[in-house]
Amino acid sequence: MSEINGADKNGTKEAKEAKEMVELTIDGQKVVVPAGTNLIEAAASVGITIPHYCYHKDLSIAGNCRMCQIEIKGRPKLEIACNMIVQKGLDISTQGSSQAVKDAQAATLEFILINHPLDCTVCDQSGHCKLQDYHYEYNAKPSRFEEEKVHKVKAEPLGPNVILDGERCIMCTRCIRFCDEITQTSELGLLNRGDQTVIAVNKGKELNNALSGTVVDLCPVGALTHRNWRFNSRIWYAKETESICTGCSTGCNVKVAVRDGQVVQVKAKYNAEVNKEWLCDEGRYGFQRFQPKTRITEAAVKGSTVELQTALDSFKAFKGQDTVVFLSPDLLLEEFWLIKKFLDRDIQKFKTVIAYKERELNDVEKILVSPDYAANFRGAQVFSLGGEKLESEYKDALAAVKAGTAQNIIIIGERAILREDFSSELLSGIAKAKNSIAIISDAESPLIGSVQTVIPERTCLEKAGLYVNRKMRLQYIDRLIDSPVGTNQVWRIINMAAQRLGQELISCANDRDLTLRYLQSDPRLSTLKIAELKNGGVLLTELNEAGRSKTQGGVTAV
Ligand code: SF4
Ligand code: SF4
Ligand code: FES
Repeated sequence: MSEINGADKNGTKEAKEAKEMVELTIDGQKVVVPAGTNLIEAAASVGITIPHYCYHKDLSIAGNCRMCQIEIKGRPKLEIACNMIVQKGLDISTQGSSQAVKDAQAATLEFILINHPLDCTVCDQSGHCKLQDYHYEYNAKPSRFEEEKVHKVKAEPLGPNVILDGERCIMCTRCIRFCDEITQTSELGLLNRGDQTVIAVNKGKELNNALSGTVVDLCPVGALTHRNWRFNSRIWYAKETESICTGCSTGCNVKVAVRDGQVVQVKAKYNAEVNKEWLCDEGRYGFQRFQPKTRITEAAVKGSTVELQTALDSFKAFKGQDTVVFLSPDLLLEEFWLIKKFLDRDIQKFKTVIAYKERELNDVEKILVSPDYAANFRGAQVFSLGGEKLESEYKDALAAVKAGTAQNIIIIGERAILREDFSSELLSGIAKAKNSIAIISDAESPLIGSVQTVIPERTCLEKAGLYVNRKMRLQYIDRLIDSPVGTNQVWRIINMAAQRLGQELISCANDRDLTLRYLQSDPRLSTLKIAELKNGGVLLTELNEAGRSKTQGGVTAV
C-alpha cells in the first residue's frame, strides 16, 4: 500500500527544519515549537484554540474564511494565522488577549451568517457544527439582518453518498481541496461570485470516488451530509465511541455513533500515522455488516439446543487428532494469544489458517485502503497462527475440506470462512467430517446444518481489545454495541473449553482485564497504558528495535 497522500509533504526539508526550535509568544505565554510549524498548530500545542473553518493541516491553505485572525505586535492590521509559519520572537494575541481580535471574529461570524438559513432545528450537523459552536463562543448576538436571504440549491445529491445544502455552505473549499489534492479526482468546484457563490459537481462528473464520504467530515457546517444517515438521529441521542474500523487491515481510527444498537454515523478520528482524517466509503458505511440480522444465542450439538458446557465438551474429541483450524482475521490479538495456548496444550496436532484474500485496488483506494478484508491478520501472525502465504494456505485448507482429507475441523469466528467460499462441496465436506465445531454469530450462516457443534460468539463490534494493523501498529478497538444474552467473546469460549479439558488458561473478569494481562505478559508491552493505545497506538516494529515507542498521531487542530 502506498503512503497516505501528502504524508511526506516537504520531506527532507521538513525533517531538517524539525531539528531547529523556534520560540515565540502567544497570549503572553512562551511557546517553543519546531521551525516550520503553522501558527494554529503552535497555539494548539499549548492549549490555545485559534478558531478556523477553512484551515486543515493536511490540505493547502485557502485563507478565505477569516475566522483565524490574530494580532501581531508591531504590525498595523490583524492577520490570518492559518497562512503563517512560526517565526522567532513573534508576539501574538488571539481572542484570549485582544479586543480587536474578538471584534473581528464576531464580525466574521455575523457576516458568514448573513445568508445562512439558520435551520439548525432540521440540520443533521446540529450538535456537532462548528458554526453553532463558534457563534456561541465568539459572537452569540442575535442577527441584525432584515433583508431577504439569498436562496440556493437544497438537498442536491452530489454523488451516491453525499448530499449538498447550498444555503448552509460557508465556501471554505475544504471539500474541493480534498478532491483536488488528496483523491486528485477534482469532482467539485465553486460557481459564481459574491453571495451567489455555490459549490457544484463539475460538468460530467459525480462525487463518487472511494473516499467521497470524507468531505462530510471535512465540512465544518451542515452543508454536506451523508445520504445514508440523513435525519436518522440527533447526535445527542447517540453514544459516540472511539474505535478502529475493522473493514481492512489499514486500521483507520473512527468515532462511531450508536443508538439503540444501530450504528447511526461514523466519522474519522484524526491519526496522523494511520488515516489522517480520511476514511473509505466501504469502511465508513459498512459497519453494520459486522452485525448479523439474526443471532445465534444458544449452543447446539447436531441440531439440538444444549447447555454451553455440553457444547464445549465437543472439543475433547479433537485432542491429539490432526485438526484444521479456520480463524477469522478480525479476532482480537488477545484471542489469538489464548487460541495458540489452547491449541498447543489441548489439541496438540493442528494446522491454523486465516481467511485472507487480496483484491485489486483502484488509484483512490490505494491512498488508504489495504487490499484485504482481514483487519487483524497481523495479530494472528504475531503468534504464528498464519504463515507468510496466508491466501494459499487458506485455499489449500478449503480444498482439503472439500476433498474429505480434513476430518477434524474447528471454525473460530464469523468470517473464518468467507461467504463466497461456502460452496455445496465445502458444506458437504464439513458435514462428512468426523468432528466439527463452529464458533459463530449469524443465525443464517450456511454452516448451520453442516457443522456438528455450534457455539454463539460476540461480533467484533461487541468486544474490546487489541488489533495490529498492516504496518504493525498496535491499536485499541473499543466495544460499540451491547451483545445479546447467550453470546460470549471467543477468548472466554476458548478459556471455558480449556477448563472443560482440564484447566483454564487464564482467570479474567472482562475484556479490559484480559488486555492488561496480555500487555503484562510481554516485557516489551508491559509499561504501555490502554490510553496510549487508544490515542494513536504504537508501532510494534519500533518496540522490537528500540524498546518502548512513543505514542504517535495525537489530535491537534483539524
Ligand atoms: S460544502 Fe462544506 S466543506 Fe464544502 S465549501 Fe461548503 S462549507 Fe466548505
Ligand atoms: S481503509 Fe480500511 S480501515 Fe480504513 S475506513 Fe476503509 S475499510 Fe476501514
Ligand atoms: S482564513 Fe484562516 S482558517 Fe480560514
